[in-house]
Amino acid sequence: AADKLARVKDALKSFPDFPKPGILFRDIFPLFRDPSVFNDLIDLLYDTIKESSPGVQCIVGLESRGFLFGPLLAQKLGVPFVPIRKKGKLPGDLVSVTYDLEYGSDTFEAQKGSILSGQKVVIIDDLLATGGTMKAACDLVEQLGAKVDLCLVVIELADLEGRKKIPKPLKTLITF
Ligand code: PRP
Ligand code: MG
Repeated sequence: AADKLARVKDALKSFPDFPKPGILFRDIFPLFRDPSVFNDLIDLLYDTIKESSPGVQCIVGLESRGFLFGPLLAQKLGVPFVPIRKKGKLPGDLVSVTYDLEYGSDTFEAQKGSILSGQKVVIIDDLLATGGTMKAACDLVEQLGAKVDLCLVVIELADLEGRKKIPKPLKTLITF
C-alpha cells in the first residue's frame, strides 16, 4: 500500500496562486492520465472502506469531484451509489442543507428515498479543506435517517482544520 500511496501522491500537481493569490491548489486530475495510478487510488480507497466501514450499504458522492470515485467504488463493493448535488440540479422531492463558504453560502440537495433510512453510508469526496462541504453532506445523510459510518477523502489540507468540523469518523489518504 505504501508504494501505491507514493505513486498517487507523485501524480498530484500543485499550482501556486490558483484560483486566488496565496492559495496553493492541489490538482487531482493528473492522476487520471495514468490508468495504473488511478487503479492504485481506487485500491487504496476500497481497502480503506473494507477496513473502516465493513458492511457499508451505500456510497454517497459529492458533486462534482466526488463523482470521480464514488460510482466506481460502489460498483466494486456491490452497493448503490447516490449523488449529493448543488442546488437546482436534482428533480423530485428533495432534502436540502445550506452551508457556509469562505464568501457566501451554497446549498446541497439529495433525493428523498435515494438513501434508505437506517442504511450505513460512506461519503466520498476528493478533498477536505475547511470541512464545510463534508459537514453539510453528513447533515443531509442524517436528515434522510441514514447513518454516516465513514467520511473518506483523498486529500486533507490540515492547516484549515476541517477535521474538527466533521462529527463522524474521517479517513484521508494524503495530508498536506
Ligand atoms: C471542492 C472540493 C471539495 C470542497 C472542499 O469542491 O472538491 O468538495 O471544495 O472544501 P471545504 O472543505 O472547504 O468545504 P468545489 O465546491 O470547489 O467544486 P467541485 O467539486 O465541483 O470541483
Ligand atoms: Mg467538490
